[in-house]
Amino acid sequence: MASQLSSLFFQFIFISVFAFATTLAKVPANETFEFINEGEFGDRIIEYDASYRVIRNDVYTFYTYPFRLCFYNTTPDAYIFAMRAGIPNDESLMRWVWDANRNDPVHENATLKFGEDGNFVLADADGRVVWQTNTANKGVTGIRLLPNGNLVLFDKNGKFIWQSFDYPTDTLLVGQSVKINGRNKLVSRKSDMDGSDGPYSLILDHNGFIMYLNNLGQQLIYGGWPTKDFADIVTFAAEPEDVNKTNTPYELVLSLTHLQAQPSTSPAGNGRRLLQVRPIGGGSTINLNKVNYNGTYSFLRLGSDGNLRAFTYFPPASYLKWEESFAFFSSYFVRECALPSKCGTYGLCDQRMCVACPSPNGLLGWSESCKPPKPVPCRAGAKFDYYKIVGVEHFLNPYLDDGEGPMKVEQCRDKCSKDCKCKGYIYKEDTSRCLTAPVLGTLIKDVNTTSVGYIKYSK
Ligand SMILES: *[C@@H]1O[C@H](CO)[C@@H](O)[C@H](O)[C@H]1NC(C)=O
Ligand SMILES: *[C@@H]1O[C@H](CO)[C@@H](O)[C@H](O)[C@H]1NC(C)=O
Ligand SMILES: *[C@@H]1O[C@H](CO)[C@@H](O)[C@H](O)[C@H]1NC(C)=O
Ligand SMILES: *[C@@H]1O[C@H](CO)[C@@H](O)[C@H](O)[C@H]1NC(C)=O
Ligand SMILES: *[C@@H]1O[C@H](CO)[C@@H](O)[C@H](O)[C@H]1NC(C)=O
Repeated sequence: MASQLSSLFFQFIFISVFAFATTLAKVPANETFEFINEGEFGDRIIEYDASYRVIRNDVYTFYTYPFRLCFYNTTPDAYIFAMRAGIPNDESLMRWVWDANRNDPVHENATLKFGEDGNFVLADADGRVVWQTNTANKGVTGIRLLPNGNLVLFDKNGKFIWQSFDYPTDTLLVGQSVKINGRNKLVSRKSDMDGSDGPYSLILDHNGFIMYLNNLGQQLIYGGWPTKDFADIVTFAAEPEDVNKTNTPYELVLSLTHLQAQPSTSPAGNGRRLLQVRPIGGGSTINLNKVNYNGTYSFLRLGSDGNLRAFTYFPPASYLKWEESFAFFSSYFVRECALPSKCGTYGLCDQRMCVACPSPNGLLGWSESCKPPKPVPCRAGAKFDYYKIVGVEHFLNPYLDDGEGPMKVEQCRDKCSKDCKCKGYIYKEDTSRCLTAPVLGTLIKDVNTTSVGYIKYSK
């Protein structure tokens, strides 16, 4: 009984001390922040041809070279709370590197508020909370935008209670990661005009770090690093080649971290045969590219066209300070024709160029208006046929081991004919493998004429 009482007593003490400690740890009243989304727009040219408002008041500028917090909009009265990189007083485009609420834009007069409770909240003009850090009463005492572009809320010991680096959208800044046990992906925006989630994603899981197209409700692999147990954490990094020199080139790399020791070097997946992977140093980094200058201000982004690109900001340059410093689908990495959107919705791609628009009447000239055949109606008795393109591959071929088989070409056709979703098939005459395609996009010209495409069309 006595021990029960004393245990209760200690619980009481503990809870009171705890409550006391949390009530103590508050944001000082003079360091809280409130900003209303109203007023003049900035007058510089900025990415996506957006209008923007700089977020600041007398206490906070939220500017740490070259990063700054803003609201921006690409369509009237639909604002995103975001971070930009680059400085206004040069000709170079400033770019958007982090978005808080891209799927739920706010209106004129929305408020952004950092209160004494330590929560950072974006509320729309009608008061509806659109986005927040969920850090109320968690000991937050301050907010800061760090020189690497990480917006952090920290406690009295300087520990980060929340950081924007944990919530990448389509972009990784240098030092930022995706994590298997956290935010594990980048998702493209729909278009320059529409910042909401687009069809492309780059996902880290136990199958690798993989680029997927998902506009049909199924994930179709088109790039990335499909390697089993690739990493638990993938960090985008820029590393000086020679740490002892000031004018040293920088390597842009993916730095791979395993939380547990790897039993053995895991074998590379099938998809690897498409990649001209650069040297992998000790199995823990992948070298994307090298720039001949300081690459500290770089970011890696999954674009709305599905390509993965890095951009590097080099202040001493007199113009075009942002340079494209890496592209996954490019002449120096993976063939450009393998980017599904390379030829828009449809086209035949050869050596980086869209050379033809395939049709039942043969190969016609390609233009942006090239479209795949109208889908065959999904009902019994619908009349359709296939037209043939010799020497062609689909973007899925290298990743799906050319499909199934061996089987006869008639069986392959049958498979496609019975499947409403099948838009055509690629048949490998030498290995008798059969790939049925749920989407067409860019078809890749193949030197090997034993790879033959058959495209479904209504008769
Ligand atoms: C807020 O007040 C504290 C204590 O007076 C002071 O140390 C701090 O510098 C002030 N912060 C700002 C942003 O003025
Ligand atoms: C924003 O708020 C101000 C002040 O309350 C008001 O005058 C203005 O009309 C509002 N703007 C819009 C677009 O609602
Ligand atoms: C840089 O300098 C240190 C100290 O002089 C030396 O130990 C190191 O090997 C040098 N690193 C390179 C890459 O030259
Ligand atoms: C590269 O730029 C960063 C940021 O300005 C700076 O901290 C770093 O020292 C630079 N590196 C070299 C090797 O000059
Ligand atoms: C083309 O196919 C043949 C088999 O028919 C194969 O032996 C050859 O390696 C292929 N060539 C290329 C460049 O893939």
